[in-house]
Amino acid sequence: MPLFATAVVRWQKKYGRHNLPWQQDNDAYKVWLSEIMLQQTQVTAVIPYYLNFLRRFPTLAVLARAHESSVLAAWSGLGYYARARNLHAAAKQMLRDGIPQDAAGWQALPGVGKSTAAAVAVFVNNERCAILDGNVKRVLARTHLCDELINTAAGEEALWQIANAQLPAKRAKQDIRAYTQGLMDLGANCCRPKQPLCAQCPLTAHCLAYQSDVVADYPKRRQAAAKKEKTAHFVLIRAQSNDNKETLLLQKQASKGIWGGLWSLPLYANGKDHWQQLVGAPLTAEGTSSFTHTFTHFRLTATVSHYRCTVSSVPLVALAPPLRWCNKSLSLALPAPIKTLLQQC
Ligand code: ADE
Repeated sequence: MPLFATAVVRWQKKYGRHNLPWQQDNDAYKVWLSEIMLQQTQVTAVIPYYLNFLRRFPTLAVLARAHESSVLAAWSGLGYYARARNLHAAAKQMLRDGIPQDAAGWQALPGVGKSTAAAVAVFVNNERCAILDGNVKRVLARTHLCDELINTAAGEEALWQIANAQLPAKRAKQDIRAYTQGLMDLGANCCRPKQPLCAQCPLTAHCLAYQSDVVADYPKRRQAAAKKEKTAHFVLIRAQSNDNKETLLLQKQASKGIWGGLWSLPLYANGKDHWQQLVGAPLTAEGTSSFTHTFTHFRLTATVSHYRCTVSSVPLVALAPPLRWCNKSLSLALPAPIKTLLQQC
């Protein structure tokens, strides 16, 4: 029976993914970018953003010298915007101090945790180090029948120990890439959270959960606390000029907070009269809409009051920042639910 790592490596070479855009070379900038985008985000969602981002920022230097607003605009819709702000800060740091040469160096950059640092070091430097993202935790918890709760410090600790113990032998240095990618591929496509494809898995001979027919019971996790519910009331004001040009009133969010640095709808707060005065034109109510959006720690239920006004020509009176009249087609950094809302109306 081949060792755990050997089974993963053999399987990856034959059945794993080899054509992902970031697998085409081991350029440090591209690998690092892909691993940041892939944090908490599925491969299919990342691919178009990754390709577009590289067209917009083809090198580390271009990214480092860009304005944060254009980095956020290219990230817009991918969520977890702290990732984009950290990415930009890390690019500046690397341009100044050089590209890290090992996992410890990668981990010292903003936004790069232990597992991401290890993944980059494997794919860029062939370093022999263990990764432990959500998918890999599931694979290891099942194969090793890990009873610790995976979303606790004790669970993490236990799984890191397993991850380190199962690395390919030191002498098989080139195998670390296929092994690491193989664990990711198995986690994503075979050892799935629901309906795992055990019949296709190369690890059944090593999988204690499979052998005891308890795959569905692993990984064990502590029940997450119910998400807090929050509400918000936004205002969507559209101004239409006689020559049929349309602009929208948007507000830039302060740099701290969930949508920090992004453009969003202003809060309704002080009511229609307040907005009418500010806009300097009578507002016609066009009804309300609503949307919900789930963040890491809470669920937002938003109501949106829609208004329209007609003006002789756009742009309208200049507004004090952070408010601004915006062309709908302008490529601004918008949070995904606001982008969807604007596309629909
Ligand atoms: N998830 C995290 N990193 C990945 C990678 N390099 N390929 C596929 N999925 C991933």
